[in-house]
Formats: sequence, C-alpha cells, structure tokens
Amino acid sequence: MKAVGLYEYLPAEDENSLQNVTVERPTPKPHDIIVHVKAVSLNPVDTKIRAPKDGKEEEPKILGWDAAGVVVETGSDVTLFKEGDEVYYAGSVGRQGANSEYHAVDERIAAKKPSSLDFAEAAAMPLTAITAWEGMFDRLGIAQAAEKNEGKSILIIGAAGGVGSIALQLAAQAGLHVIGTASRKETTDWAREMGADTIINHHDDFRPQLEQEGIHEVDYIFCLNATDTHWDKMADVVKPQGMICSIVETGEKLDLGLLKQKSAGFIWEFMFTRALFETEDMIEQHRLLEEVSSRLDAGTLKTTITERRRGLDAAVFREAHQKLESGTMIGKLVIEFTE
Ligand SMILES: NC(=O)c1ccc[n+]([C@@H]2O[C@H](COP(=O)([O-])OP(=O)(O)OC[C@H]3O[C@@H](n4cnc5c(N)ncnc54)[C@H](OP(=O)(O)O)[C@@H]3O)[C@@H](O)[C@H]2O)c1
Repeated sequence: MKAVGLYEYLPAEDENSLQNVTVERPTPKPHDIIVHVKAVSLNPVDTKIRAPKDGKEEEPKILGWDAAGVVVETGSDVTLFKEGDEVYYAGSVGRQGANSEYHAVDERIAAKKPSSLDFAEAAAMPLTAITAWEGMFDRLGIAQAAEKNEGKSILIIGAAGGVGSIALQLAAQAGLHVIGTASRKETTDWAREMGADTIINHHDDFRPQLEQEGIHEVDYIFCLNATDTHWDKMADVVKPQGMICSIVETGEKLDLGLLKQKSAGFIWEFMFTRALFETEDMIEQHRLLEEVSSRLDAGTLKTTITERRRGLDAAVFREAHQKLESGTMIGKLVIEFTE
C-alpha cells in the first residue's frame, strides 16, 4: 500500500524528510480494526517526531495520529465495529501512524465518526478532543455538569491552537468562565468564536491583565504551550487549592515549591498514556470520542478544521509540517486522501 514515511530525521524543507513509500498493508491483532484512511490531521507530535536528530530507520516510520476512515477488516476479538463502519481516532504513538492507505488501530481507542461531518472535518478532532477532555475532566477534575461549576473559571493558555480550540468549547459547555490566551487579532477572534469569555495575551504578565478584567485568581489552568515560560505566572494566578494541568514537556525543572503555600496541584496530561500502557480503562477513549461524536452531530460542538490539503503525497505533508512548525496555527490542518 502507499504511505508517507521517513527514514531520517530531517528539516521539513528537505525533500528526504518525508518520502512516498510502499509498505505492507497491516494485519489486525485481536483487538484491531483495519481502516481505509480517508483523511488525517496534523499535530505537533508529527513535527516533533520528524524533527532533526540522529538515527536512521531501516523500515519507513509512518507518522499521523489523527484519522477518519472506513473499517475494512476486524481482528478476532473485535466487538465494537464491523466492516463498513465509519470511524475516527487518534491511535497510539507506540505504533505506526495513519499516513497510509490502510491503518491498524485498537478498537478501544476508536469511535463512530460523527455522521454530520465529512471525513476531513472529523479527522480534525480526535487527538485534540481526547487531550482537552482528559486534561480538563480526568486530570483537573472539572465536573462536566454546568451547575457544578457556577462561579468557577479556567485559564486556557494557547487557546486558538488545535487543542485550545476544542478545550474552549468543552470548558464553555461545562459552565466555566473561560479565559483564553492569544497574541494576535486573528487568534483572539477565533478564540472568542470557540467560546472564550475573556482574552489575555500570553506574552505579557497574567496578573495585571486579569485584574483589569476584575479577575483575581483562577480555579483551573490548562497550559497548552511553553510550560516553562508560563510557570511562574501560572503559580501566581492559580487560586488557593486550585489545579494546573500542562500538556507540554519542559526544558527546565519546574519549581513545584511555588504551589505549596496555596496547596495548589499540578498534573500532566499525555493523551497517548492509555494506549501506550494499555491501561485497564483504555476504553474510556472510545467512550469520550463517542460522546464528542454525538455532540458534534447535535451541533453543540463544532469541528475545528481551518485548513484543507489533498493527497497522500510526501510533498503535501512536507508543506503542512512547515505550516505547523511556524507556531501560528489556528484550529486544525487536515489532509484528505480521496481524489
Ligand atoms: N500531552 C499531550 O497529550 C498533547 C496533546 C496534544 C498536543 N500537545 C502539545 O501541546 C502543544 C499545543 O498543541 P496544539 O496542537 O494546540 O498546537 P498548535 O495548534 O500548533 O498551537 C498554535 C497556537 O499556539 C499559540 N502560541 C504560540 N506561542 C505561544 C506561547 N508562547 N504561549 C502560549 N501560546 C502560544 C499560538 O497563538 P498566537 O498565535 O495567538 O500566539 C497558536 O494559536 C504542542 O506542544 C503539542 O505537542 C500535547
């Protein structure tokens, strides 16, 4: 089958960074479904894995951890799906990605594609929806029922990006006062459209900007960018007994001591944890994606797709990687494979 893969870790501008390759179509493990991939969306995980470093692959490494497509084969233990079902999922970073004609994914981390969306609109959603859902509801412990969040607030740092765009919508639905950060007019407008009540600039101090809006502290902080840069500012504005969750690795050690006086908490979210460790509750990702699918069909959530490309072709992927690496993405970039 056709795929886009890499042998070496090179800048996206280099023609050899991502190449058109031919590989064996995968065979299913007992819990796997084989999906004919119709569209994938790009995430920073793709560019971070592709980024220049030593090492060579003997077999092409295939990126792509956000996909929508049609089930064409099922493993011996599969109970959730059958051939012909339309699905969407992020998959596992511990396995090959979905930038290929066919892809194997564990049924417990896949879900029914929203029927009101096309494949591209659906492919924009899974990885970021899982991250936002797990980060806010599972890690920060935010209640989903709006009546339980009266008077509570969340600060979402990097609000107009892929994860932020769905996190804003979920937070607004949960009844929180939603403060997003954005540094440009376009991202500010987009963040408001996605559900932010208040916008502040992530390049400036948080406290004076919040005070100006009459906000003295925030119950929850969801950090989606530059954790080290924002750490002191987050510790400053988190409410006593509040919680901070970050999804972005740090270059430096974080001073947890800054949270002691406030008895505030810090927790990581990594959306591949359940799949990588095959945790007992791994099927929760199937459930949450089903719920997101229902909300997208009901119109209470909107797809975050903003850019479309076409073609299972290395040149298309190389250009898309450069766009993502510019750090200026608004919403999600999707590549459709259908002609
Ligand atoms: N742990 C996990 O499971 C997980 C899952 C998904 C993503 N991630 C990581 O989370 C990060 C965000 O992912 P994404 O898909 O949302 O990225 P993205 O779409 O590329 O984010 C782009 C946004 O980042 C904002 N931004 C740029 N510099 C910033 C800064 N210094 N502080 C705050 N915001 C800044 C930009 O806003 P302005 O243009 O307004 O400045 C832009 O809208 C990436 O590092 C990714 O690897 C982790």
